[in-house]
Amino acid sequence: MQVVFGVGSEHPDVLFIGEAPGEQEDAQGEPFVGRAGQLLDRMLGALSWSRDNVYIMNVIKCRPPGNRDPHPEEVHACSHWFDAQWDLLKPRVVCLLGRVAAQRVLQTDATLASLRGRWHEYRGVPVWVTYHPAYLLRTPTGKAAVWQDLRRLAQRCEALKA
Ligand code: URA
Repeated sequence: MQVVFGVGSEHPDVLFIGEAPGEQEDAQGEPFVGRAGQLLDRMLGALSWSRDNVYIMNVIKCRPPGNRDPHPEEVHACSHWFDAQWDLLKPRVVCLLGRVAAQRVLQTDATLASLRGRWHEYRGVPVWVTYHPAYLLRTPTGKAAVWQDLRRLAQRCEALKA
């Protein structure tokens, strides 16, 4: 097992945050390189983004055995690294991918559906929430909603740059 820290620009327009490395991410030492990651890359590409101008990381830096949900003490153990990454990267905008990231950052038990579609804030940065790409692999009908989410994210990003 290895630490999977993050990948992308040191000064990203958008910081994407997922849950935890899976098997392939653990093997390669890079977040989102498996099937969900390939879908994420295609979604980024549709907005003319790539791993070069965004940053991608996870709440948890090591793979939970058997891909189970991270335990609260694991989330806590990675918190220091998580906050340090956030502060160093100084993202303009953050996009949380899925329930685990959304609940960790927004410190809530609310459902993902109730957190989507409105702006939140963490450490002074605007935060947006959308479905995890792994969910889209299981539920392709969710793609239209995510596409809408990503367009709103890109609009906010452009507005902050202007
Ligand atoms: N799912 C995640 O949340 N993160 C990864 O890095 C890969 C899959």
